[in-house]
Amino acid sequence: MAGVTIREIEKFFGPIHVLKGVSLDIEDGEFIVLVGPSGCGKSTLLRIIAGLEQQNGGSILIGGEAVDKLHPSRRDVAMVFQSYALYPHLTVAKNIAVPLRMRRLNLLQRLPLLGRWIPGTAEVVAGIDRDVTEAMDMLGIGHLLDRKPGQLSGGQRQRVAVGRAMVRHPQAFLMDEPLSNLDAELRVHMRAEIAELHRRLATTFIYVTHDQAEAMTMADRVAVMMNGELLQVDTPSKVYSDPSDIRVAEFIGSPKINILPAHVDGSGRVSVGDRVMPGLYSGAKGKEIRIGVRPEGVTLGGINNKGLPCRIVHHENLGSEAYFHGELNIGGRVISRMESSALDHFHTGDEATIMLDPKNALLFDADGERLKAKIEVAA
Ligand SMILES: Nc1ncnc2c1ncn2[C@@H]1O[C@H](COP(=O)(O)OP(=O)(O)OP(=O)(O)O)[C@@H](O)[C@H]1O
Ligand SMILES: [Mg+2]
Repeated sequence: MAGVTIREIEKFFGPIHVLKGVSLDIEDGEFIVLVGPSGCGKSTLLRIIAGLEQQNGGSILIGGEAVDKLHPSRRDVAMVFQSYALYPHLTVAKNIAVPLRMRRLNLLQRLPLLGRWIPGTAEVVAGIDRDVTEAMDMLGIGHLLDRKPGQLSGGQRQRVAVGRAMVRHPQAFLMDEPLSNLDAELRVHMRAEIAELHRRLATTFIYVTHDQAEAMTMADRVAVMMNGELLQVDTPSKVYSDPSDIRVAEFIGSPKINILPAHVDGSGRVSVGDRVMPGLYSGAKGKEIRIGVRPEGVTLGGINNKGLPCRIVHHENLGSEAYFHGELNIGGRVISRMESSALDHFHTGDEATIMLDPKNALLFDADGERLKAKIEVAA
């Protein structure tokens, strides 16, 4: 077990600046999820930590020691890939045993026929078998030991790949989109399993995904990356409710946050279109800003309400709740998330109004930088 420090990492692929001075302190035993859109540099950073890629600047420390000059095999971290990278000709048990055989047996001992006659080999092999069995039982794949990867489901293959990483008792697990080849239902199941595994092993996990839901449900802390930079590193609830930047606000949360142009007048009244919101805002007086309200902060009302007029262009019934997509008369779209009982009153095609909850509104300046103060609403 060890913490991992990423210090000012720079990476270029030819002229492309892929990582722009990325720094992050990951605590010992922490589950950190690196999340960001495709191509932002997540895999590259993970591969640099593992030593599979060389950085152009900066340093990686594992357990306080710089590992930049160490070969991947000496860094004592285990990587689980999206593709699982299993050996197709080896059984499940043998796949999991590979890293232990490489580490505990010498070249002669590994020879297929001769190896077993070398003194001491039998004891080492028995120890490897024990460790492999223990890992398989922990992952619930004990009954699959003689199967080949081709005879396994996606979820089972994924567990074998995790098992192979586990038996090494690495200082840290590095996982690159390990669930992205699974169907939606299994993905949800496996994300709970991986979180549970982390609790049991209490080892540092660095997990890469472009799926914000995966990040939110699994992480102790989420590191949001875009364009080779870390925009925010925080707990899942903080990145959701207190994003530092409009790009973070828009990336985290599903359905997406609603962003609308707004104006703050000289006395602090905030208006969207020609409607003035309740409450007063002390910052950005006289400025054009953008206001972000998550779908649960948007409520639909009848046409005679004070809210912004809109037309419902689509609704989705999810059973316990419903999403309404509205097209505003002033232009732009909003999504409202309400209890499904709202379906008794509103449907696709209806004219309606929307009310934005000022207490949960997030304000951003014209450049997308978060304005920290909130709209003050008298109780
Ligand atoms: N070996 C390489 N040579 C040249 N460019 C590369 C190489 N590897 C990655 N890149 C580029 O670096 C950028 C970051 O790639 P990276 O694989 O780290 O992204 P990612 O965040 O993991 O994306 P995804 O979510 O799609 O896996 C991309 O623009 C990619 O095209
Ligand atoms: Mg990637």
